[in-house]
Amino acid sequence: MENNFEKKAIQSGDAKSDSAMAEFLNPTIQERILETREIENSEVISGGANRCVLVKLKDDGSGIFKPASGEGENHIGKNFGQQEVRLEVRAGTYYKRERATYLVDRFLDFNLVPPTVIREIDGEIGSLQQIVDYDNFGFEVPWHKLPEKELMKLFALDYILWSSDRGPENLLIKNNRIYAIDNGLTFGPDKFLPFEREGVSLGGDSEKSYSPPPPEIYSHWSIPAEIKEKINTFLERGRWQILRGQLLELLPPDEVDACFARIQKFAELIKNKGEISSRAELQFNPAAGEQDSN
Ligand SMILES: Nc1ncnc2c1ncn2[C@@H]1O[C@H](COP(=O)(O)OP(=O)(O)OP(=O)(O)O)[C@@H](O)[C@H]1O
Ligand SMILES: [Mg+2]
Repeated sequence: MENNFEKKAIQSGDAKSDSAMAEFLNPTIQERILETREIENSEVISGGANRCVLVKLKDDGSGIFKPASGEGENHIGKNFGQQEVRLEVRAGTYYKRERATYLVDRFLDFNLVPPTVIREIDGEIGSLQQIVDYDNFGFEVPWHKLPEKELMKLFALDYILWSSDRGPENLLIKNNRIYAIDNGLTFGPDKFLPFEREGVSLGGDSEKSYSPPPPEIYSHWSIPAEIKEKINTFLERGRWQILRGQLLELLPPDEVDACFARIQKFAELIKNKGEISSRAELQFNPAAGEQDSN
């Protein structure tokens, strides 16, 4: 896999000479704020499976802190019949996956994931994600009212991440833009579940269910030009080299390889057909030539 990427980078010139690369070596301003700004106060909010803490930063800004020690703690408490939220994505690693997800989104320039860093707060290591001042949760907006381009970009990102927890409760909507949150259950060889879980009961007074778009929907959509350009820019400019190094600090090497194989696969689909003909084309590690692990 790596060789394919290397070959491409050599063909397209020395990536390191591209000065635009430099920006990807450094954190953005938003990342620096999340990483360094003094904490004004923090308060545990009722999360789902994981402990979630609303953190206010001094002067300006706030984030959701998800400490490693709180991963899956409510899930086990609710007696779902298993020790882990996902068997192939171990608790204690989610916060790194939250950060890795943001990095993939940033390097692909998809702009779907709020800035997310790793930080120690009150002696606890975890992920800190910028708060989105959203208008609606995904489940409050019928999917067909969302822009097709945004949905397709989200589908591409979720495939690349191999997201196993993408449902409309983990999407925030503002001004027709989608924000993908709750990205701890990504990259592992678990199930790829974009948007297609059964209706979810959110419990209590706010009980709601949603109708996700049927999986076949994506096979009828051609991949928008913007997504093609973004993936090609990512590959041609050699950003992948920097991303690879950063992901290897967060994830097991086989999961990083599988992620890059999926990016390569998506690029091939774009080049050859311009569309996804069937979900069966999308495998956990296309380079390994295994059967669809869905
Ligand atoms: N970036 C964000 N901006 C605004 N609100 C957020 C953000 N991230 C999380 N939240 C809020 O915190 C809640 C819990 O966050 P999240 O879904 O990440 O936690 P979780 O415990 O992993 O969730 P669950 O098990 O319910 O899927 C969200 O439903 C949302 O209300
Ligand atoms: Mg959630």
